[in-house]
Amino acid sequence: EKGTYPHFMLKEIDEQPFVMRNIIQEYQDENDEIKLDKKVRQAMVEADRIYIIAAGTSYHAGLVGKEFIEKLANVPVEVHIASEFSYNMPLLSEKPLFVFISQSGETADSRAVLVRIKELGHPALTITNVPGSTLSREANHTLHLHAGPEIAVASTKAYTAQIAVLAILAVDTAKAKNVAFDFDPLQELAIVASAMEALTDQKEVFEQLAKEYFSTTRNAFFIGRSTDYHVCMEAALKLKEISYIQAEGFAGGELKHGTIALIEDGTPVIALATQENVNYSIRGNVQEVAARGANTGVISIKGLEQEGDAFVLPQVHDLLTPLVSVVPMQLLAYYAALHRDCDVDKPRNLAKSVTVE
Ligand code: M6R
Repeated sequence: EKGTYPHFMLKEIDEQPFVMRNIIQEYQDENDEIKLDKKVRQAMVEADRIYIIAAGTSYHAGLVGKEFIEKLANVPVEVHIASEFSYNMPLLSEKPLFVFISQSGETADSRAVLVRIKELGHPALTITNVPGSTLSREANHTLHLHAGPEIAVASTKAYTAQIAVLAILAVDTAKAKNVAFDFDPLQELAIVASAMEALTDQKEVFEQLAKEYFSTTRNAFFIGRSTDYHVCMEAALKLKEISYIQAEGFAGGELKHGTIALIEDGTPVIALATQENVNYSIRGNVQEVAARGANTGVISIKGLEQEGDAFVLPQVHDLLTPLVSVVPMQLLAYYAALHRDCDVDKPRNLAKSVTVE
């Protein structure tokens, strides 16, 4: 039930801090260590390469998850769009592990890949919000997102839950493989939960920004580099799916290779700047598009902020910035859709779970 909320999407955005705390509880043992199915741990440790398969928002979460698993657990990861996988199936390593990320666990494109790789005899792990779902039943292992039912077609809390669970999985694997690192995901997720709360408490700011940038525009761009780029892809999907604005997420460095030609007077360009190593370059990109007339807005993070930024995010662990940077993007999309009188929870032409290939 929506309770006092006008839309499920807004309710689900607001639930994200609770989901983070829920995940901490579900994945923590009595010694405050990570609690995870031993068989999942073993499957992760045995794999010489991970193949993440997903669609839409879950694919975007997979792109962030790749960073965790490679950086923390030192295992190579490929992320594939489920519907594309079979056309150009990659050469598989000797001991692959397939990880299916799916809120619903019913996405037909992902299921088709699962059927295929099972025929080949490879192991599969499904990360889903619905443990009894098809992808969960048909895989060898399941990890539960514990996000509670997600009703709005636009996925919000499932995305952040997926990233949180992937961070826990990556650290668990790293520990099991004795890889040295300095990152306690359970502690860091608690900090994320408070930061998310600080953001959802400031909805009027994002409502105002949505008005400023998206009330009449036909198109919009989100630019970022590195991790921020992956969040920009998700930001664009959220905006286009519910507000019908043509939106794209671009890697800052790619602008000069073509996209910058699209910038006109007043084109909204939202930049994410949460990563220190790319801060200088992305700020340069903002200047380039501003010089061509773009209506720019930078969302930065505490410590990297500059005068004139549209919003400064509270600081969280560097690896987990997508969990906070996506929240303004979700709220911007929500308010843009609202201003434009769109059906927020049930956008045209879309279904919550896509059960056809
Ligand atoms: O249930 P799944 O996570 O497998 O769904 C995948 C996509 O269909 C889904 O994320 C879709 O892109 C959302 N509507 C995005 O908000």
